[in-house]
Amino acid sequence: MSQTPDKRDDQNQDKIDFGFTQIPKQDKVKRVENVFNSVASKYDMMNDLMSFGIHRLWKKVTIESSSVRKGQKVLDLAGGTGDLTAKFSKIVGDNGLVVLADINAAMLKVGRDKLRDEGLFKNIDYVQANAEELPFADNYFDCITISFGLRNVTDKAKALRSMWRVLKPGGRLLVLEFSKPEYKILNKAYDLYSFTMLPLMGKLIVHDSDSYRYLAESIRMHPDQKTLKKMMETAGFADVTYHNMTGGIVALHIGFKL
Ligand SMILES: C[S@@+](CC[C@H](N)C(=O)[O-])C[C@H]1O[C@@H](n2cnc3c(N)ncnc32)[C@H](O)[C@@H]1O
Repeated sequence: MSQTPDKRDDQNQDKIDFGFTQIPKQDKVKRVENVFNSVASKYDMMNDLMSFGIHRLWKKVTIESSSVRKGQKVLDLAGGTGDLTAKFSKIVGDNGLVVLADINAAMLKVGRDKLRDEGLFKNIDYVQANAEELPFADNYFDCITISFGLRNVTDKAKALRSMWRVLKPGGRLLVLEFSKPEYKILNKAYDLYSFTMLPLMGKLIVHDSDSYRYLAESIRMHPDQKTLKKMMETAGFADVTYHNMTGGIVALHIGFKL
C-alpha cells in the first residue's frame, strides 16, 4: 500500500489528484461521484464510527462560530446527509431558509429522507449543484458552510470564487475540513489509523475499501491550514482566520465578504 502521492507534474495542467493518483481533470467529478454513491447509505454510521463521534463536536463548533440568526439564509454546501442543515433549520426558523446543496443525488436523497423523518422540511430547499458553479443569485446568502466537502472539489479556487459571489456583503464562509496535525507524534498515529483502519472498516461495513482509502489519501492531499487561508484570501475573502481542532486533524477556516 502506497502512502506517498505520485510525483506531481505541475506542468501538466490537465491532471489532478484523486487521492494519491493523478487522473485527467475531467474524470474527477465522476470518480468522486462513484465514491459517494457507494458510501451514501452508510455515510452517517461510518462517520460516527471512524471519528468516534467527534465529528459531532467539530460540527457543533462550526454552528456556534457561524453567528447565524433567525430569518437568515444559509447555504450548506456539499451538505451531504444534512447534519449542519438540521441544526441551521432550527436556528433560522420559519422565516429563514437553509439550502442543502450537493453534487450527488444519492447523498441528497439520504439527507432529505433523514431530515423529513426528523420533521424538518418547512424551511429547507434541496439543490443538486456543483460547488464550482453555484446556481444562485449574487449576494444571496448570509452564511455559507462547506463541511468535509472542499477537498473533493476539482477546482477549489473556482468553487471559493463561486461561494464569494453568492454570499452577501457582511456574510461569512465557514470551511470545516481535515487539515494538517500540529504534532509529529499525532501525525504518525493518525497515518497508521487512516491507512489501515479506515480501508478495513470500509471493507467490513460498506464492502468497499477503495472509497475509504481515497478518503485517507484525499485528506493528505488537501491544502494545509496556511495554504487554504491564502486560497480564501485570493478568492476575495477578508479577515480569514482558522481554528485547529483535535490537534489540527481538522481546521475551521472563517472568512468574510466585505
Ligand atoms: C464527506 S461528504 C460531507 C457531507 C457533510 N457536509 C458532512 O459534513 O457530513 C462530502 C460531500 O461533498 C459532496 N461533493 C463532492 N464534490 C462536490 C462538488 N463539486 N460540489 C458539491 N458537492 C460536492 C459529495 O457528494 C459529498 O456529499
